[in-house]
Amino acid sequence: MAFIIAIDGPAAAGKGTLARKLSDHYGLPHLDTGLTYRATAKALLDAGKPLDDEAIAAEMAGAIDLGWLDRSVLSAHEIGEAASKVAAMPAVRVALVAAQRRFAETGKGAVLDGRDIGTVVCPDAAVKLYVTADPELRARRRFDEIIARGEAADFDRIFEDVKIRDARDMGRADSPLRPADDAHLLDTSKMGIEAAFQAARAIIDARSDH
Ligand code: DC
Repeated sequence: MAFIIAIDGPAAAGKGTLARKLSDHYGLPHLDTGLTYRATAKALLDAGKPLDDEAIAAEMAGAIDLGWLDRSVLSAHEIGEAASKVAAMPAVRVALVAAQRRFAETGKGAVLDGRDIGTVVCPDAAVKLYVTADPELRARRRFDEIIARGEAADFDRIFEDVKIRDARDMGRADSPLRPADDAHLLDTSKMGIEAAFQAARAIIDARSDH
């Protein structure tokens, strides 16, 4: 059976950084599943399609090629906003979850990060991590990233966006963001991302099957 590491948590909690570090360390391929929702949203925006037509969105989702997910293009703010709308559509989730499972189950293992990996996509994952952090600190990290890129940012607006995104991800009816019952909780506002990586390694290394 593939050795799957499932990482969930809210936006900007550090789960992407943690997923990439674990992927490098254990030599396992990594899928940022948020990019699949973002790619679907971008395909709709590029084609000039409405963002509230579930049938069209599901068709676009079914055509996403996981080999062509370009983070630098897909990280744009308006794509994130559109992604959180299409992510609430059950037919979109069915199509993307099928592709994510194929990725997870091909080969010796994989690291997947998102919102519903431990609960829906890979409920039998070997290790489940739920990475969280205080919302204000997550907004501060986002703000610092944007400033470091030399762009302008408004902290209050980013903090507001973090709260709205959390409410949408945790409040939707289909696959809301929540820790799986058997997830290990890592709070990066208390421990920092490097310490979270060391804690995750200790959890993974304690298993004999990786
Ligand atoms: O993590 P992100 O900002 O790239 O995610 C984009 C949107 O997709 C966000 O609103 C949450 C949603 N998402 C989801 O519903 N399920 C996942 N497994 C990953 C992301």
